[in-house]
Amino acid sequence: MKELRVELKEKSYPIYIGTELLMQKDLLVNHIKSKQVLIVTNVTVAPYYLSYLQKNLEQFQVETIELPDGEQYKTLEFINKIFDCLLENKYSRNATLIALGGGVVGDMGGFAAACYQRGIPFIQIPTTVLAQVDSSVGGKTGVNHSLGKNMIGAFYQPQCVIADMDVLDTLDDRQLVAGLAEVIKYGLIRDVEFFKWLEKNIAQLLARDKSALTYVIERSCNNKAEIVAEDEFESGIRATLNLGHTFGHAIETGMGYGTYLHGEAVSIGIGYAADLSKRMGWLSNVDMERIISLLKTTGLPVNPPKEMNVAQFIDLMTVDKKNVDGEIRLILLKSIGEATLPISVNQSLLEQTLYNYAG
Ligand code: NAD
Ligand code: GLY
Repeated sequence: MKELRVELKEKSYPIYIGTELLMQKDLLVNHIKSKQVLIVTNVTVAPYYLSYLQKNLEQFQVETIELPDGEQYKTLEFINKIFDCLLENKYSRNATLIALGGGVVGDMGGFAAACYQRGIPFIQIPTTVLAQVDSSVGGKTGVNHSLGKNMIGAFYQPQCVIADMDVLDTLDDRQLVAGLAEVIKYGLIRDVEFFKWLEKNIAQLLARDKSALTYVIERSCNNKAEIVAEDEFESGIRATLNLGHTFGHAIETGMGYGTYLHGEAVSIGIGYAADLSKRMGWLSNVDMERIISLLKTTGLPVNPPKEMNVAQFIDLMTVDKKNVDGEIRLILLKSIGEATLPISVNQSLLEQTLYNYAG
């Protein structure tokens, strides 16, 4: 097992990465300082992995809530169901919430934990590639609104993250591939050597080679932990993690939550961001081609959805957490391995990208 740390003074916590971690009772129990535990999971993940937790937690009062599966249920309505369960069972302020699932369950569980009685401890047990490399680390929690993706939420750090790679065995290929969009993102924004490694080793990852997957999860978590330690509340460098996300979130909201997976929408968004970076005179044609080629080889979509028009994109992109005074601000690439902080771009250049980028 590998242990990384997110260094945030008194809020610091470990990320455990390895195999057979769900079977290690102490790993989990050592982070629980209460008798009452609520497991938040969903109807897909529960049949596979809930029993491991239940077995490890026999000494506790354990309740479980199984959410419906899907991005469309990442709403305040279902957060309220978590509160109902906590209140019906008279859970106190020292109760621990465990989020067992992908990014949707993790974001929702974390947000419920942040709000219940103004904050109860929580533990992330991420079960998708995307959640293991990105969403379980760093304390961004929240839900979607019909008018904007992830627009309601809180920064709230977990007690620990337990990333058991064995759970990825049951993940389908589309989800595995979607998670790799966030992995490629790390290479693009700050780790050119990782990008080159991905160019060489993508076939092994797609074949689910365990050592390649372990390497990718560790290196991604390392990148994320360093960024979060430097800028927990996204006043600067953390925003670079949003490369492609302003376009991607517009696609997720515009097409209806769940139509495109988050990682798929981010992949198309990275294509848009790369195109705009090229128009700014920063990214070379060769590097643009390398980016699109890696996304395609990974099996990620790069073509914008035909159903969305430019006006709709601009409308949706004006609802984004990086915007200032309603003005769109984007993360772009100076080169592979170097991202800008959020910048306002010339509207006509942005429109050129929105009209012309074709993947
Ligand atoms: P997800 O949570 O919807 O999981 C994907 C699918 O895989 C679901 O159907 C789920 O039930 C299923 N699943 C999960 N684990 C499984 C397993 N081990 N075996 C079989 N099936 C399994 O999606 P995701 O890609 O994990 O996360 C996307 C969400 O994460 C989005 O809502 C996105 O906004 C959010 N996100 C948050 C952050 C953050 O920093 N908080 C970062 C990136 C993404
Ligand atoms: N996934 C973006 C962040 O954690 O900041």
